[in-house]
Amino acid sequence: MSERILVAVAWPYANGSIHIGHVAGTYLPADIFARYHRKKGNEVAMVSGSDAHGTPVTLVAEKQGVPPEAIASKYQAEFQDCWRHLGITFDLFTSTHTDNHIAVAQDMFLTLQKNGYVYEAASVQPFCEYCGRFLADRYVEGKCPHCGFQGARGDQCDNCGRTLDPKDLIGIVCRISGHTPVFRETSHFFFKLSAFEDQLREWTKDKTHWRHNVVNFTRGYLDGGLKDRPITRDIEWGVPVPLPGYEKKRLYVWFEAVIGYLSATKEWAQRGGKPDKWKEFWQQPSRAYYFMGKDNITFHTVLWPAMLMGYGALNLPYDVPANEYLNLEGMKFTKSRNWAVWLPEYLDRFEPDPLRYVVAAIMPEASDADFSWREYLRRNNDELVATYGNLVHRVLTMSYRNFDKAVPQPGPLDAQCQELLAEARRRFDEVGAAIEACRFRAGLGAAMLLAQSANRYLDQRAPWTAIKTDRQGAATTLWTALSVINALRVAMYPYLPFTSEKLHQMLKRPVQVHDAGWSWDPQELRPGQPLGEPQPLFAKLEEAVIAEEAARLVR
Ligand code: MF3
Ligand code: ZN
Repeated sequence: MSERILVAVAWPYANGSIHIGHVAGTYLPADIFARYHRKKGNEVAMVSGSDAHGTPVTLVAEKQGVPPEAIASKYQAEFQDCWRHLGITFDLFTSTHTDNHIAVAQDMFLTLQKNGYVYEAASVQPFCEYCGRFLADRYVEGKCPHCGFQGARGDQCDNCGRTLDPKDLIGIVCRISGHTPVFRETSHFFFKLSAFEDQLREWTKDKTHWRHNVVNFTRGYLDGGLKDRPITRDIEWGVPVPLPGYEKKRLYVWFEAVIGYLSATKEWAQRGGKPDKWKEFWQQPSRAYYFMGKDNITFHTVLWPAMLMGYGALNLPYDVPANEYLNLEGMKFTKSRNWAVWLPEYLDRFEPDPLRYVVAAIMPEASDADFSWREYLRRNNDELVATYGNLVHRVLTMSYRNFDKAVPQPGPLDAQCQELLAEARRRFDEVGAAIEACRFRAGLGAAMLLAQSANRYLDQRAPWTAIKTDRQGAATTLWTALSVINALRVAMYPYLPFTSEKLHQMLKRPVQVHDAGWSWDPQELRPGQPLGEPQPLFAKLEEAVIAEEAARLVR
């Protein structure tokens, strides 16, 4: 029976480029998951968009002396381009700066207010007398009272992930003027997060399928006790507060961005010509998976679920498979020192599938992981080229050249052939089960083990020698290996979609690779069926790449 799966992907701030740490944390796992479920015949809505509002965007805009819209639309276009080239298949990648999102966010605000979960209260906020304005969120920084990190912001510490109040910051300064702000009273709306403590605790109880890091982080947060959070700001860029007299205030960027999952599903349904279809994902049986890096966890396991509970009658997250961090050559990605591999630059110079492969192979699912160019090169050359690519190349060229550009006719399958096919069946199912459980590394590992077994099988049977004396035996070996390659074509598709498409052409499969299902029949390739001309699947990279790429870091 077909299921409905909402693949909800964290919204990147529209204030800078995507780097491969973001790919590893968020976008690639989401895409692997969505591709797999679509192939299985499940109904998938994979939605996200640019997080266009708030101080992350206004700060960059002010620095460049352009309006925030200009920054938001520049990165919106860049993101879309990246998704196309990397093969990240959003069903909708929109932006929070749309009329639809603004309306849905305002409805959420008003409904929560009506239900008694939003109230107005006086609050003291940092005010810079030098700049003459209130300093929201990223406009102030100081030392985190919890972990001692120096660059903590007014709403969040990027080091320990805790949510903060500007009052908590030690040595608070205005990031524009460098002056110490004063605290002035202003009026804000608060979300009554404290009202949801018991309900949230109850809800998380049966989440035994959540990752340990997600459970621990969420438990820790709940155990600290929930405080009501201010959800409006004294800034001009963002979703207006839908009440007269509040023209100068905007909704807090995190409060409205999480609503994007709902508004984007509505926009997707609208664009598809079935405006009520969002209800199938939010009000009917359906599972929602939220993909993000670990710094986003509590917004998705505490704040957003509480908002949904307060609104009523909307599905809560089913799983929040947040990843840990990917480091680069042993150090954290940092924009300021250009310690990053920027996705648009990567895609200008290299193929998408090797990045998808390497990042999936080292995906930081349970602990931080490290990307290095040496490792990238090694995995490309040893695993993609020498293992998977070589398997495909040997078998396809031999079949093409010696058996009339067609699938050879096998003789009876001996025990070794049957064993390999049985392993293929096992591995194929293992890949699917791993992806379903959001264990993407393990899924890829299982597929690669199958490729290795097929190579060993080939080496032992050496059809290139056998063909001179035992043409029938060679045909049997090649047919069996082709059948395994046909399994890998499907099993690898969520990870290496461009490669699977190439392979699909070479094996002359009837429909396009993404339209064919998640299934493998060992007998699917009929003897005599034509084969396409073999092309190499991957290109070997020269050692020099390592030094070239190292030189690009920190320029
Ligand atoms: N823009 C945030 C970040 O990059 C993520 C927002 S996720 C959302 O960390 F759901 F709130 F949109
Ligand atoms: Zn901290």
